[in-house]
Amino acid sequence: VSPTQDDLKRMAAHRAVDYVKSGMVLGLGTGSTAVHAIRRIGDLLRRGELSSIVGIPTSKQTEEQATEAGIPLSDLECHPSVDLAIDGVDEVDPHMNLVKGRGGSLLREKMIEGTCERFVVIVDESKLVDCIGGSRLAMPVEVIPFCCNYTLERLQRLFVDLGCTAELRIEKGKPFETDNGNYIVNLYFERDIGDLNDASDRILRLPGVVEHGMFLGMATTLIVAGKLGVTVKEK
Ligand code: A5P
Repeated sequence: VSPTQDDLKRMAAHRAVDYVKSGMVLGLGTGSTAVHAIRRIGDLLRRGELSSIVGIPTSKQTEEQATEAGIPLSDLECHPSVDLAIDGVDEVDPHMNLVKGRGGSLLREKMIEGTCERFVVIVDESKLVDCIGGSRLAMPVEVIPFCCNYTLERLQRLFVDLGCTAELRIEKGKPFETDNGNYIVNLYFERDIGDLNDASDRILRLPGVVEHGMFLGMATTLIVAGKLGVTVKEK
């Protein structure tokens, strides 16, 4: 039988947990791939194969999952040096640039994964793209709720030449609220973004924007699980 997508996510996650050593401070990612790593770390702690682990959760959802798995938790204020972070992504390009945040978490992820010693990205092969943002799928931007439609308009206008459209993420008839009490504007591009660093700078310069889902030059290791097995790429 060929593995399901969830089997592939688990395979990538378990390979990433091989990098975890006792005593480490770990950034714990968010989503349906990262949860496999959280459960695996919990199992190893229970079996005594790992000890003295401190987890820094990247979302409230992860905090709950890690608590359930029995991983002791802390935060960046108490543990500012994170040894290793493991997380899934929405898209990854050949240079290991990432899109994250389609699940609704990106700010805490970027704060934690941007400071860690090693950032291991775990994916099934469906997440591989030639260039991020070229998928015509959402590029999430976290914005403050105050005048969010004004910010949305300005974001859209920034990339008018790329055929960009911006939409407020709505769930159950209301703006989706992040763990930080902010909203998400999804950007959709008709054409490739091109210079990602320039796009990032332009988005971040807009007042009202808190953070965006492009994670550029941050990943150090990429673990891909596909039908033919698991591959590991180091930066
Ligand atoms: C959370 O908002 C995201 O950044 C996730 O890390 C990303 O969406 C990947 O999630 P899945 O592993 O569930 O695809």
